[in-house]
Amino acid sequence: MEFNTLILEKEEYLATLYINRPKALNALNSEALFELETAVRDIRSDSNIKVMIITGAGDKAFVAGADITFMVPLTSDEGRFFSDLGERVMRQIELLEKPVIAAINGFALGGGCELAMACDIRLASETAVFALPEVGLGIIPGFGGTQRLPRLIGEGRAKELTFTANKINAQEAFRIGLVNNVYPPDQLMDEAKNLAKKIAANAPLAVGYAKHAINKGLQVDIDTAMSIESDIFGLCCATIDKIEGMSAFVEKRKPKFEGK
Ligand code: CAA
Repeated sequence: MEFNTLILEKEEYLATLYINRPKALNALNSEALFELETAVRDIRSDSNIKVMIITGAGDKAFVAGADITFMVPLTSDEGRFFSDLGERVMRQIELLEKPVIAAINGFALGGGCELAMACDIRLASETAVFALPEVGLGIIPGFGGTQRLPRLIGEGRAKELTFTANKINAQEAFRIGLVNNVYPPDQLMDEAKNLAKKIAANAPLAVGYAKHAINKGLQVDIDTAMSIESDIFGLCCATIDKIEGMSAFVEKRKPKFEGK
């Protein structure tokens, strides 16, 4: 699949998506967002793909935010549309039935930090820098940042980062729970691929269902969440992979999952 602002590579079970606008440190304009939406749709429908990695092309930026040059002339209505578009694309990543790993290889600012937060697991290079700098530009985070950051790191820390627009390094992002792990720059992609491989060895439907159960359950009260879990547990019990996984355990062999 050919894009102007992205590079999509597929190998076996893994799709790696590079945000690729080197002249703007991979900042997201509407073209990049529409292309991201197309790429996610493609990955959803590709039954070979079990895990996706999102990273930035080059060695300086994951994504340096929404494209400021693009936003300069936006009217109120156009701004609303742009925010809706970004939110929709981030949500599609969050709702994708396959795990998405952000390999954060540099600046993850504004919309870049928001893109990382829409992913399931965040791995950072030691060189990564995080911030929500929007209030310094006279706007607020518009791709879900005001909602996902407090859910991830708690209200107080989220408000401090958002109100100050402070930049934090990868170690601080790890300390506050914004990223799962930090690696030297030259190890980041290998570590992301190792993680993808471990995930891909498990039953793909069960992994997708687990993502759905966690995401849905976090939005509702605990009793409703338990009921979501038991419904999905029931669905798993109707899969061929459940028979295969349990038979393999009993027969002391490795399971061969089909995603059915
Ligand atoms: N939008 C458009 N262009 C950007 C950009 C962005 N978010 N970030 C960087 N660029 C461009 C620069 O304008 C520059 O282009 P030129 O060479 O044509 O001048 C090029 O990328 C390289 O950037 P710098 O020369 O600034 O590189 P640096 O190493 O000195 O600084 C940086 C790097 C700290 C990331 C700095 O570029 C910067 O602060 N960028 C803006 C970050 C930002 O504020 N992001 C939030 C955007 S708002 C948002 O995301 C809203 C939302 O939630 C929807």
